[in-house]
Amino acid sequence: MAKTHISFNLNGRPVDVLAEPRELLIHVLREQLAHTGPHIGCETSHCGACTVDLNGRSVKSCTVLAVQAQGGNVLTVEGLATNGTLHPLQEEFMQQHGLQCGFCTPGMLVRAYRFLQENPNPSEEEIRTGMSGNICRCTGYQNIVKAVQHAAKRLQAAGGK
Ligand code: FES
Ligand code: FES
Repeated sequence: MAKTHISFNLNGRPVDVLAEPRELLIHVLREQLAHTGPHIGCETSHCGACTVDLNGRSVKSCTVLAVQAQGGNVLTVEGLATNGTLHPLQEEFMQQHGLQCGFCTPGMLVRAYRFLQENPNPSEEEIRTGMSGNICRCTGYQNIVKAVQHAAKRLQAAGGK
């Protein structure tokens, strides 16, 4: 099948790739752009390991065509830190032990990032609902929720950054 140029911003930098119209965003990110933070788990839109941000919305990149990113903005876990400083969510996932094997973590972090933009001061129940598209096999979720709560407080204190 003929390949087409796809251009978009990836973590704030312009990228241009050649991909077939049927290629999935997760494959282009991992195989062509060496962004292996988004993981491939179920490949059926259930687990959330592949979650990235596309134009300000959380998407499961295993079920998004790469061409859908044309002209858009994609954020992966690799884009959360700023100049080598971890995002408060990343720090709180470490401090609150919000991960064990870490397989779900890149998707959790990117989803939590968007969720806190949508709801900067969430209740525990809202966090659980907002993160319900991301599955973790290890932690039992308690510490993930705690990490999001702590990060929310820090982000609010810092003016939502
Ligand atoms: S790999 Fe995309 S939702 Fe599981
Ligand atoms: S930390 Fe292992 S799947 Fe979540």
